[in-house]
Amino acid sequence: MILDKIEKLLEEVKGLNASTPEEIEALRLKYLSKKGEISSLMADFRNVPAEQKKEVGIKINELKQTALERINSLREQCETNEAKNDDLDLTRTPYPIKFGTRHPLTIVKNEIIDIFSRMGFTLADGPEVEDDLHVFTKMNFAADHPARDMQDTFFVETNPNDVTKNIILRSHTSSVQARVMETTQPPIRVICPGRVYRNEAITARAHCFFHQIEGLYIDKNVSFTDLKQVLLTFARELFGPDTKIRLRPSYFPFTEPSAEMDISCHICGGKGCGFCKHTGWVEILGCGMVDPNVLELCGIDSKIYSGYAFGLGVERITNLKYQVSDLRLFSENDVRFLHEFDAAN
Ligand code: DAH
Repeated sequence: MILDKIEKLLEEVKGLNASTPEEIEALRLKYLSKKGEISSLMADFRNVPAEQKKEVGIKINELKQTALERINSLREQCETNEAKNDDLDLTRTPYPIKFGTRHPLTIVKNEIIDIFSRMGFTLADGPEVEDDLHVFTKMNFAADHPARDMQDTFFVETNPNDVTKNIILRSHTSSVQARVMETTQPPIRVICPGRVYRNEAITARAHCFFHQIEGLYIDKNVSFTDLKQVLLTFARELFGPDTKIRLRPSYFPFTEPSAEMDISCHICGGKGCGFCKHTGWVEILGCGMVDPNVLELCGIDSKIYSGYAFGLGVERITNLKYQVSDLRLFSENDVRFLHEFDAAN
């Protein structure tokens, strides 16, 4: 009885066929697994009369060996077929890989870096988790000066005896300017792109983090005229050759004099529209001549050197270029929003 069963299985196993890895695995399970046909023969083996045990044992082994070889050779065949197909089928439809897009802030940041690079500025980088010394103190913010309130941020570690040792999330990339001045003697010509943080409620118009690019130029005889011409060139490169600029007096602790720069509204060409609130102008950055105190605090002789600095928000410029109405869109990573920038890549 058992011998007939083995013979039948042997025939079956010799003729096995399968072409996909899944089919082959199913065969392995059917014949060779613990609950498979061959294991169940082993169970029956216990009831075989002693004088037949040897013959049956040999047959079962032959069956097991044959099944193993057949399944292995099916597996090899399947692998070589797959390899061949991969090499040869040049007509196969490509995998549907969708390219992503660059983030709009990256597009605009790169454009701005490009413009300043062409004017000889190099890139400088620094930490986002910073000490008070570089964010505020060396930028001429006195320890108890209310100007610090304009840039309330997040405190990682506070030191009650010495505010300059507080560890905070930087509220502007001016901290990178401080680090560059500490380690480099003029001429200095750098831009500092990076993420900055503010303690602000998140709304369509404000966020607890955003991106800045600040610039710093220090050399002998640098004047306000140099600043104005560089910013005019920048505005025209970014918003078109007809762009006009105007500088309004302002206040920053680290520059004197300080100014806010507006560009003529690129939507209405300066005639006045809803976008520029009918003024013809839109604000794009802050700037000024570096306060001599800042130079001295950072180890640069203010009797020999002077310089200018400016700082802009990348979100603000991106909003002006692409009229993004809600600041939160930049950090939500909704692909429908991001794909709107396919063409700008
Ligand atoms: N740090 C300023 C801010 O975050 C922006 C700024 C204004 C930077 C004038 C400058 C500058 O370097 O000269 O509001």
